[in-house]
Amino acid sequence: MSKALDFNNIPSHVAIIMDGNGRWAKAHGEERLFGHSNGVDSVREALKCARELGIKYLTLYAFSTENWARPESEIQGLMQLLVASIHSELEGLCENGVRLKTIGDVSRLPKDCIDSLQEAVEKTEANKDITLILALNYSSRDEIIRACNRLAAKVKSGALNPGEIKQKDVEEALDTVNIPDPELLIRTSGEFRVSNFLLWQLAYAEMHFTKVFWPEFRREHFIEAISDFQSRERRFGKTSEQIS
Ligand code: FPP
Repeated sequence: MSKALDFNNIPSHVAIIMDGNGRWAKAHGEERLFGHSNGVDSVREALKCARELGIKYLTLYAFSTENWARPESEIQGLMQLLVASIHSELEGLCENGVRLKTIGDVSRLPKDCIDSLQEAVEKTEANKDITLILALNYSSRDEIIRACNRLAAKVKSGALNPGEIKQKDVEEALDTVNIPDPELLIRTSGEFRVSNFLLWQLAYAEMHFTKVFWPEFRREHFIEAISDFQSRERRFGKTSEQIS
């Protein structure tokens, strides 16, 4: 049982690796896509809970650059699920002040996905309660390479001097420009890896791993993760005495 949450210490950005959809489906004697579609209920619940707690950014690893290696039928199913979910949830996102953003190279997604995402991003642009960031065709190394290319172009144009690249320049070249770093990473399904997700941005994040498969991740598990976060002493390289 987790103790009562401290509402003065809620992370402003939580990132989640939603894992275990396939194993959960298998355990129920179903196809992998059954796990993914049940995972959408967990997405809705996590977003609702995050918003109620006052979390300002929620980033979800929805499709990695490595996921293209999955069977074609699963990829197609996931893309269709994404389009269908955006259509069915868009009104709710607007009513609840949710702004939608994406990170990753979405230009490589099927056209109907790109169109639905673009519509949802535009329609939710002015919403202020919480920003939901979907990582799609995303991997951190891919993002860092994109950032390097952006920086190289700036150097070539004369807007940036070689040898004078600062942390801020790199941050501004990443897909997550203007988004604060996650303070908490949650990964479901009992795996203890970061899997090429937000490698730069997670530098000081607390990590919470749970055995729960993503389709069964509910409010109580989210609260448990926040409670775990609140039990940590965040030192950022300093000593315990310096921060107390
Ligand atoms: C990982 O489980 C999950 C994914 C690769 C996809 C996540 C997608 C959703 C939850 C649905 C769509 C999302 C939105 C935002 C509408 P896995 O398939 O790797 O599970 P396994 O490790 O048990 O095989």
